[in-house]
Amino acid sequence: MLLPPTPAALRRAAAALKRGEPVAFPTETVYGLGANALDPEAVRRIFEAKGRPDDNPLIVHVTGLPMARRLVKELPPEARALAARFWPGPLTIVLPKRRSVPDIVTAGLPTVAVRVPDHPVALALIEAAGVPIAAPSANRSGRPSPTRAAHVAADFPGLLVLDGGPARHGLESTVVALGDPPRVLRLGAIPFEELRKVLPDLVVATKARARAESPGMRHRHYAPARPLVLFRRSRAALREALAADPKGLLLCADADAPLFPGRRPVKLGGTPVEIAHGLFDALRTERHGSVLLAYALPRRGLLRAVMDRLERAAIRIV
Ligand code: TXA
Ligand code: MG
Repeated sequence: MLLPPTPAALRRAAAALKRGEPVAFPTETVYGLGANALDPEAVRRIFEAKGRPDDNPLIVHVTGLPMARRLVKELPPEARALAARFWPGPLTIVLPKRRSVPDIVTAGLPTVAVRVPDHPVALALIEAAGVPIAAPSANRSGRPSPTRAAHVAADFPGLLVLDGGPARHGLESTVVALGDPPRVLRLGAIPFEELRKVLPDLVVATKARARAESPGMRHRHYAPARPLVLFRRSRAALREALAADPKGLLLCADADAPLFPGRRPVKLGGTPVEIAHGLFDALRTERHGSVLLAYALPRRGLLRAVMDRLERAAIRIV
């Protein structure tokens, strides 16, 4: 059930959360499927509803530093510097957890991932519920993240969804773990280069390390409506594939469309911001065709995170 985020709808959603029921809500990145983070039974229902593997921990959403402090053992100076610069916003920080955070939230890890969403409806909902909200992206496990309320409703018919319109970023938060060196575990809506300005020794974790430290990186992700083949290197190979399959749908940045004349592409957008915004919508496209054939993007700034999503969505990379 989609509800515009009126004060009455917010009260209803907060009451549902307090009863231990799941509620979907908008954030600036993607929609979240929320539960009271301090209620293990409510959190268990989120894993069940999503079909999420129980080794994949959830992000806990809070209204600000004071609420974050109640979840973590300590806030080292690096975390405070990141929070001062990027919260509220699409940055998730992984920190040692307090005992009050149920193990099911963190999949048994000694750390908890925390962020302050930059969205009035998300903040009002946490405030009204009076508790931190554990929320993965509001998609069935393995599907593309939802950037519109209708995506959530498609995956979870009957669920209470606060409809905040299309998500501003359309790409999930960047996940950072502190330590020596601090590491990006998941690329996301805040580009690596921006984070480096605050933490100069930040690195992007190798795939193996990200998988070891962030269980979500091990699982199948973003399965599109059509199987996706990513052409990372060769434009000629993509031209051949298009010639061999007249029903193949081409997915590319607006600027690359003229490289493949005679095809009506699923255009991702012009600027990096537009491309990030259009990605998950495009992966959910129901347009008639056999496969999605994606053309690679330059691995810089926001597009580095978009390429990460395309690589994880692809059944084959050429
Ligand atoms: O933008 C976002 O981050 C959205 C919105 C709703 O906030 N949420 C989101 O959640 O994308 P989800 O569950 O789809 O992805 C959470 C990621 C996973 O890769 C998970 O493994 C990682 O965060 N994560 C959560 N807790 C962690 C922890 N304690 N240590 C390492 N990684 C963790
Ligand atoms: Mg997700």
